This record gives sequence, C-alpha cells and structure tokens, in this order.
Amino acid sequence: MAALAGERVLLGVSGGIAAYKAADLVRRLRDAGAEVQVVMTAGAQRFVTPLTFQALSGRPVRTSLWDDAAEAAMGHIELARWATRILVAPASADLVARLAQGRADDLLTTLCLASEAPLALAPAMNRVMWANPATQANVQVLRDRGAAILGPGRGDQACGEVGDGRMLEPLQLVDALAALRAPGALSGRRLLVSAGPTYEDLDPVRYLGNRSSGKMGFALAGEAAAMGADVTLVAGPVALATPDGVTRIDVRSAAQMREAVLGALAGQDAYLGAAAIADYRPAQRQPGKIKKQASSIALDLVRTADVLREVATHPARPACVLGFAAETQDLDALAQAKLTDKNLDLIAANDVSRPGLGFEGDRNALTVFSASRRWTLGPGGKDEVARGLLGIVADFLDARR
Ligand code: CTP
Repeated sequence: MAALAGERVLLGVSGGIAAYKAADLVRRLRDAGAEVQVVMTAGAQRFVTPLTFQALSGRPVRTSLWDDAAEAAMGHIELARWATRILVAPASADLVARLAQGRADDLLTTLCLASEAPLALAPAMNRVMWANPATQANVQVLRDRGAAILGPGRGDQACGEVGDGRMLEPLQLVDALAALRAPGALSGRRLLVSAGPTYEDLDPVRYLGNRSSGKMGFALAGEAAAMGADVTLVAGPVALATPDGVTRIDVRSAAQMREAVLGALAGQDAYLGAAAIADYRPAQRQPGKIKKQASSIALDLVRTADVLREVATHPARPACVLGFAAETQDLDALAQAKLTDKNLDLIAANDVSRPGLGFEGDRNALTVFSASRRWTLGPGGKDEVARGLLGIVADFLDARR
C-alpha cells in the first residue's frame, strides 16, 4: 500500500527559496497516495507562482482568507477539517514565530490554528536565523504543543553559507510524514526498550563505559508510551527521568542488561535494542582498588554476550526485533549486513562521524532498513526521530497481524 494512501495533506508553503522544492514535494506526496491541497503565504508567491502548485496538485491553490469565490467553494474552517495532516514546507523563521504565537493573520496560520490535524513543520532558513535563540525558543514551543519538526538538514545554503537550515529533501519529508503516527498507533502493544551505556567494573572505583547518553532509548520509550504501548525500559547508568507511564529496570553491566532483557522478554511484541552494551568486559573485577605501581599495565578483556542476537534467536522472540548500528563508514552496507547476520526485522543505523548527531546530543538522524525497504529519518530532535521510528515499528507489527 502507498505510504500515505487515504491521507489528505494540507501543504503550507511559506516564503523562502526552498519553496521551489515544495513543487517536487507535491508530486512525491501524490505518488505516495495522498491528496494534496496547497496553501501559500504571500511571501511564498514571491518565489513560486500558485499556478505551478495548481498544475502539480490538481487543485486550485488557496492564498487568502479574503477570497470570496474560494471561501464559497470550501470555507477555511471546512478546509481545516478536511485535512488529515498539515505539513508546512518550507517553514520560514517568520512562519514559525507566528505559529508559536498562535497568530491567525493569514490563511495558513488560521488553518493551523483551526485544525485538529497533526502539524509537521519542515524549517528552512539561513543557519544563523535557525540558530538564533528566538527561533529555537519558538520551535521548542511548537514541539511542546505536539508539532513534529522535520529537519532542518545541514549543508550548502542558497545564501552561500554552510550549516543547519536546509529544508529536508522531498522524499525525506514523505518518509518522515508517513512514519509519524497518530496517538494510539501502538495501543495494545508491548514494547521492551534497552537504553544507555553499560559500565564494566575494573575495581571498586573504576569502570569501562561508553559515551551513550541514553537519550534515544528514553525518547523511544516515552514516545511509545504516548502512542499507547505498554513499555518496559531497561536502562544502563544514566541520569535521565523515567518517561511517563514507562516501567523502568535499572542495570549497570552488560551481564545485568542481558539478564533484565531476557527476563522481561516473554509476551513482548517488539524489542528495541537502543542500549550501547559493552562488547568486552574486564576478565576479572579486582576486589580491591588497583594501586599504581608498574609504569604500564594491561587489561585482560573478555567478550560479553550479544544481547540483540540472543533476543533475535530466543524461543520467546518478539514479532519485531530492532537493532541499532553505530557506524563511521559504509553505513548502508554494514547496517544491512548486521540486519541479516543478527536475524533482525529492522535496523536503525546512525553515522556517528557526523558532528552533533547521535551519541551525546539531543539530535539524531537514522537510516532504517528492513529486508525490503529503506527509510531516512531526521535529522531532527531525538523525540521526532523516535516517533518516526515507532511509526515504522507500528506498521511492521500491523502488517504481521
Ligand atoms: N548489542 C547487544 N549486545 C552487545 C553489543 C551490542 O545487544 N553486547 C546491540 C546494541 O544494543 C545495538 C546493536 O547491538 O542494538 C549494534 O551495536 P554495534 O556496536 O553497532 O554493533 P556490533 O554488532 O556490536 O558490531 P561492531 O561493534 O563490530 O560494529
């Protein structure tokens, strides 16, 4: 089935050079099965003509609250009810600011205010405008109200600068939109999530750990609970609050992580292995503090069990087993190899060599593979990326039902 079959997408286009990419987006949304109604702001019409969008969407473009003929055909409140989703792409800094204030000073902002459809925004602006605390605060307000912020991406900008602020590519936006699911998409499902690092003790005061913050796994657990799932979170040592409605089991070492995960496995619909579990542990934990004596010492390390692999081959294997892969090169090939090798249903790969994304930060970007498909999620906040990933898991489980 097409990814957006049956969806009625109200596509808001605001004033920015990325408006030209929104023309291709209309085609991609329609290819994915959606009906598309375009609404343009006055600024957008300075970049692209409504006629372009009319030809591509097959519907007259709406541009004004005060257009008698258009209002007679479908009033703005009716249009707000018609939409099953609103996507604003590009979302300019000005539009983001107006939405954050709850303004209704043109047709697009009025529709966003008057609609109960989930709102997704694809910001596009100069990198300094994006990084400005005013814009970041506005984005946070919208996020807190439940809007999905898709991107922005990083790269060359039309203004000649390089940085964060590029609108995501049309196909990335279609994937992200398809992956966003309404609350309740996971109701009745049981999900087991592992998160955070593990600490392997060397002696009573020292350990081997890693830089995982646990934020991605916690975001998955929290968003899954918000989508109606019954969630158990096995957490390594992290200083993060337990998301609402989530049952948490705290562990420290890889061995404890394994025991907790396998102990909670029965009856789960999915296992999401977001934890950065140590691959090696010290062969022995010294009972007393290791004293400094020799000029160098060697650590004797032994392999730990691969929890993900054990889950995927366990008699109580959940219907969906998702692993993560942190890679610094050949992301697609290595992730796909892990998918088959570990007998997984889905693998979410992140390129940990990209600055600001992945391990310790609040943002992430993932490339997700099943045996037959590839999706890209983000770059975006870990909550948004988590919601996207859970949409893919929800679809996978629905298809299995
Ligand atoms: N994982 C696990 N148990 C381990 C190590 C890793 O369950 N002892 C899981 C992680 O939770 C993650 C996945 O394996 O879902 C991928 O971890 P990654 O380090 O990227 O890959 P590895 O398979 O460990 O391979 P390599 O380190 O060689 O890339």
